[in-house]
Amino acid sequence: MRIAVCPGSFDPVTLGHLDIINRASKLFDKVIVLVSFNANKSSAAFTVKERMEMILETTSHLNNVVVDCYSGLLADYLKQTGAVAIVKGLRAVSDFEYEFQMALANKKLYDGAETVFLNTTGENMFLSSSVVKEIASFGGDITDFVPAAIKNRIFDRLFDPSRQRPDQ
Ligand code: PNS
Repeated sequence: MRIAVCPGSFDPVTLGHLDIINRASKLFDKVIVLVSFNANKSSAAFTVKERMEMILETTSHLNNVVVDCYSGLLADYLKQTGAVAIVKGLRAVSDFEYEFQMALANKKLYDGAETVFLNTTGENMFLSSSVVKEIASFGGDITDFVPAAIKNRIFDRLFDPSRQRPDQ
């Protein structure tokens, strides 16, 4: 069985993530969506449990997709699960250097898995969890960016009425 891992912070999961997960599920026998710890991101809007719940809810129609979390090194998780690939979405050239660095480091730490990059679709090119958080915090419409099933949950957590100050 060829297992792939889709790692990320998923804070929260977006339509861009779901597009990559969906396409990965067609390429591999099993896909583990792994809520992981990014040492460069200090505070999260959602707990790991909440992030997992939202991914579970929006991937339940994909029979070969499971959700897990791990706070250690991705390379160790790959070893433990026997995964043969890390699947990541690449939006633009700006993503490349960082992703390339991680791919090389993961390969050095564990030679048994390859990083596979899937290009994002044009409409998701600009989309990230940070963009969703920023828009929702100002009360903007996030309908086109996150799955309908979890839109209200995300908006209610992120909307910050104090940001809607009248113009000075
Ligand atoms: O969605 P993100 O925050 O861009 O995902 C980055 C993530 C979580 C996949 C990356 O930080 C990661 O793999 N963290 C696990 C710890 C680890 O293995 N770090 C070394 C990566 S070379």
